[in-house]
Amino acid sequence: MPDYRYSTLAVHAGQYPDPLTGAVNVPVYLSSTFELTGVGTDKGWDYSRAGNPTRDRLEEALAALEGGTSAHAFASGMAAIYALVATLHADDHVICSHNVYGGTQRLFNQVVCHYDIEIEYVDTGDLAAVEKAIRPTTRLIHVETPTNPIMSLTDIAAVSAIAHARGAEVSVDNTFMSPVLQSPLALGADIVMHSTTKFLNGHSDGLGGALIGSKPENKELFNLVQKAAGGILSPFECFLVLRGIKTLPLRMKAHEENGRAVAEFLSTQKKLTRLAYPGLKSHAQHELAVRQQKGFGSMMSFDLGTQAAAGRFLGAVKLFLNAESLGGVESLASHSASTTHAALSEEDRQRLGITEGLVRLSVGIEDKDDLIADLEQALKAV
Ligand SMILES: Cc1ncc(COP(=O)(O)O)c(C=O)c1O
Repeated sequence: MPDYRYSTLAVHAGQYPDPLTGAVNVPVYLSSTFELTGVGTDKGWDYSRAGNPTRDRLEEALAALEGGTSAHAFASGMAAIYALVATLHADDHVICSHNVYGGTQRLFNQVVCHYDIEIEYVDTGDLAAVEKAIRPTTRLIHVETPTNPIMSLTDIAAVSAIAHARGAEVSVDNTFMSPVLQSPLALGADIVMHSTTKFLNGHSDGLGGALIGSKPENKELFNLVQKAAGGILSPFECFLVLRGIKTLPLRMKAHEENGRAVAEFLSTQKKLTRLAYPGLKSHAQHELAVRQQKGFGSMMSFDLGTQAAAGRFLGAVKLFLNAESLGGVESLASHSASTTHAALSEEDRQRLGITEGLVRLSVGIEDKDDLIADLEQALKAV
């Protein structure tokens, strides 16, 4: 594909007319198997676990959007992280950002803990802590930036330099930013991971995940894991993500504009504390956000003090829906301690700052004045 600009890539990368029929949209190839042309020969596909024409197009689009050399689509964001884990070996050491999505911690603490792979949680925003934690057996540093829901950042370029000097790879969960607002591979990371359930799909109508690689070895390994373990994304879900991607740059512009407006409004409100939005100058890592990101997005969190206050707020919002997940066109508000981070012990949540009063917002693309009015009336109920 020529060196197109981003909005053009979003509409056209992987999304060219079907060679057979000229269909402008990528057809949904609902076929588990494909007729072979002879013994050991085929037209490019033999069985949909190994490869499916609709999935191929989505993978082509995702690789182009992240500037990677390959992409592989999985059944959910968690299936993508699990596929990444499947490339590790016993006795490998993994450094993971300390306040990643609760589901990632559930996978590491309750499943991967039985595999003789050591996962060490480190505040990857603290480069000295990363330097100190890295060992000869460290294979991977898995970073989430900004983190869910505390919105703390990691300097991707600096962590990648530390990792590469010691022979380790860096994977970045880019779900909160989407490929539009942050390009981890261009900053030096090796692998990008997405929950396509969020901004990439954008309409809250399908789960999905992806791993985008920067090296031939990544492609080979993720291909093998797809084929061998089978946690692949279905053709129909691939189609939904492809459709979402066409409007991703437009949607991200609207998310960004609304996110900034909502954060500015919230910053004037006395009933909340610890408002975390990297676009505010009050955010401790605002400078890093300006340097590393192409925008600040529409995710933020704040503390209302108690679970009862958070409950009153979530009961009072009308436009914002009290639901987990994020990145859809509709605005959502959620209580992290009892939803996305319920898998953590209370002690761990306290340590990470995921308090009982913490509320996370995913600001959608509705009219920003309507959203602010909704938040204003809900805060009155607190
Ligand atoms: C940052 C992040 N990574 C990964 C996931 C997991 O994605 P999925 O729900 O598609 O499995 C989530 C889900 O909320 C998330 O917020």
